[in-house]
Amino acid sequence: AATAFFANAQTFPGPKPITFVVPFAAGGPTDRVARDLAEAMRKSMGGGANFVVENVNGAGGTIGAAKVAKANPDGHTLLLHHIGMAAAPGLYRKLPYKPLDDFEFLGMINEVPMTIIGKPQLAANNYRDLENYIRTNSGKLNIAHAGLGSASHLCGLMWQAAINAKEAMTTIPFGGTAPAMNALVGGQVDMMCDQTTNTTGQIEAGRVKAYAVTTSRPLSGNKLLKDYPTLQEMGLKGFNLTIWHGLYAPKGTPPAVMAQLNAALKIALKDPDFIKKEEGLGAVVVTDNRVEPAAHKAFVAAEINKLKPVIDAAGKYAD
Ligand code: MLT
Repeated sequence: AATAFFANAQTFPGPKPITFVVPFAAGGPTDRVARDLAEAMRKSMGGGANFVVENVNGAGGTIGAAKVAKANPDGHTLLLHHIGMAAAPGLYRKLPYKPLDDFEFLGMINEVPMTIIGKPQLAANNYRDLENYIRTNSGKLNIAHAGLGSASHLCGLMWQAAINAKEAMTTIPFGGTAPAMNALVGGQVDMMCDQTTNTTGQIEAGRVKAYAVTTSRPLSGNKLLKDYPTLQEMGLKGFNLTIWHGLYAPKGTPPAVMAQLNAALKIALKDPDFIKKEEGLGAVVVTDNRVEPAAHKAFVAAEINKLKPVIDAAGKYAD
């Protein structure tokens, strides 16, 4: 294996770029992680590797994931995806790929909290007001997301179920939460649940209203978000949602190429610039033990099993 590794080291990656397929629109949270990680991996591969990010929107990330599942397993086409990898099986009857069989698992990347946010004109100034406002305006409100299987859709599904508000809100899909955020800031949609990587800047700039965080514990280390209540504190017992990201290659990618990419990912996740960028957006980079392919695959398998009943329970809320 060592000789194969070094043999590949001479040939991989070569001049051909390594593509990070991001299954959502440019400018959103997934895209942000991908671009920051591509920069860190360009450095950890000694600057010889050329990375490009390709946004393949649609169907809550399943179109982009399917594209990578069918791509040439040469290490040049990778999927950077999030919890949607584990949510989609519970939402799509005919998923065009098998999450646990059609990919090689390169490792986890980070964990990201989510925030419940509203348009600037929303007539609710704290979470309690918001729940009352939703009840008194039942049927007249909408909530944006990035398609069935997206993190924003999953959060909205769970939140609507927890406050029994499906009838109160219609759900509006976008190709990602970057376009959804534009609509929210512009007042075209009322609410959204989105990752701090996308909402921190907008909250700080006062372009959206923030109401709560979805993590089980308050974000006490985050100067901007530390004073927002958790949904659990607001009475949604057991509500706990954190988004995670991972890196995937098509099944059959040569082990020596996998080993090289995994080694480069591990070094990139220790890059102080990358960590600083992540922490500045409320995200936490995972520890080394979770950047192991076996641990990554086991985690996704466990998340699929964990999310299926959650989605089934709220499933009547799926579009
Ligand atoms: C999501 O809601 O799944 C993501 O925010 C989508 C995106 O990265 O735009």
